[in-house]
Amino acid sequence: MNVLVTGAAGYIGSHCCKALLDAGHQVIGLDNLFRGHAQAGEILAARASDRFQLVVGDIADRVLVESLLRDRKIEGVIHFAALAYVGESVDQPGSYYRHNVGGMQVLLEAMHAVGVQRCVFSSSCATYGEPPEQLIPIPETCPQNPVSPYGRSKLIGEWMLRDLSVASARAKRPFAFAAMRYFNVAGCALDGSLGEDHTPETHLIPVVLEVALGKRPHVQIFGTDYPTPDGTCIRDYVHVEDLARAHLAALFKLDPARFDQHAWNLGTGSGFSVLQVIEAARRVTGHAIPMIHQPRRAGDPARLFSDTRRAEVELGFVPGITDLDEIVRSAWQWFRTHPQGYRSASR
Ligand code: UFG
Repeated sequence: MNVLVTGAAGYIGSHCCKALLDAGHQVIGLDNLFRGHAQAGEILAARASDRFQLVVGDIADRVLVESLLRDRKIEGVIHFAALAYVGESVDQPGSYYRHNVGGMQVLLEAMHAVGVQRCVFSSSCATYGEPPEQLIPIPETCPQNPVSPYGRSKLIGEWMLRDLSVASARAKRPFAFAAMRYFNVAGCALDGSLGEDHTPETHLIPVVLEVALGKRPHVQIFGTDYPTPDGTCIRDYVHVEDLARAHLAALFKLDPARFDQHAWNLGTGSGFSVLQVIEAARRVTGHAIPMIHQPRRAGDPARLFSDTRRAEVELGFVPGITDLDEIVRSAWQWFRTHPQGYRSASR
């Protein structure tokens, strides 16, 4: 299939491109390199230069997007390009709505104009907000009440897709989409080729590994008084390569003639606490990883993990890597060989 991947030079987008290339597909990556890495594009091109090209540009550039869709005969779009920091979105909501909502709206209009029939959308469990205790593990039917501009921008993305689906059905123009609601994506390519490189880095596993690398003196634990067994927050860590595989499965499951609309939670169904993650990192790295206790971080729910049944039954999604040590080990393989992130990557 000819696939356009937006945000192809970012963390999840690049891993998804790798999975598409390894499965033999033709991939056009589109990335404005605001937070993506040109080196990720180079690594992907080195993998399959005849089947991959990174185009530097923005999803909000209607002329560019439409010409890519048309000229490259794109059959499906996997849409990752977005800003994705919950905290930043609270401080800069306009930027999140402009990029995540405005950019996506242009992309969808271009897809509709050209007649691209499949869209797999990078959504988030942040669209659920803080679900009530009786809805954990979280099913897809959980009410979506996001508590941050980031979460709201992703929910609006899902609404735009639903509206486009209705309009397409009325116009008898085949179109299908899937909203992929991620939990905590973690780990790096098992072959060491691609990794995670965010600036600023705020995610727990990379932060902990930066302590092991000596780049930070300690890890801050945001809250030790949550109603969980050890008092720290529990999250569902899903490996990025499992997640990438799920996008391929979704792309091929979509039936545009039936105007499919899907939403799938992508997690493992197991939760690990902040302290358990730190203990796993100690085992994997052999580093003591000092930690200091801090007050709770605003907006962190105590427990978030996925009800995985729908993704398993409908998508055949069964995560291959569910062992926390293995997830952390794959990230550590990348971090210790790339202490400066993609700047350390050989060119
Ligand atoms: N944490 C720490 N110290 C740190 C970093 C994180 O204690 O230095 C804690 C957080 O308070 C939280 C847990 O580790 O309890 C996980 O935090 P992350 O920042 O790694 O991830 P989040 O669960 O906050 O965010 C993730 C994704 C978002 C998504 C969100 C949905 O990164 O994109 O889940 O809730 F929107």
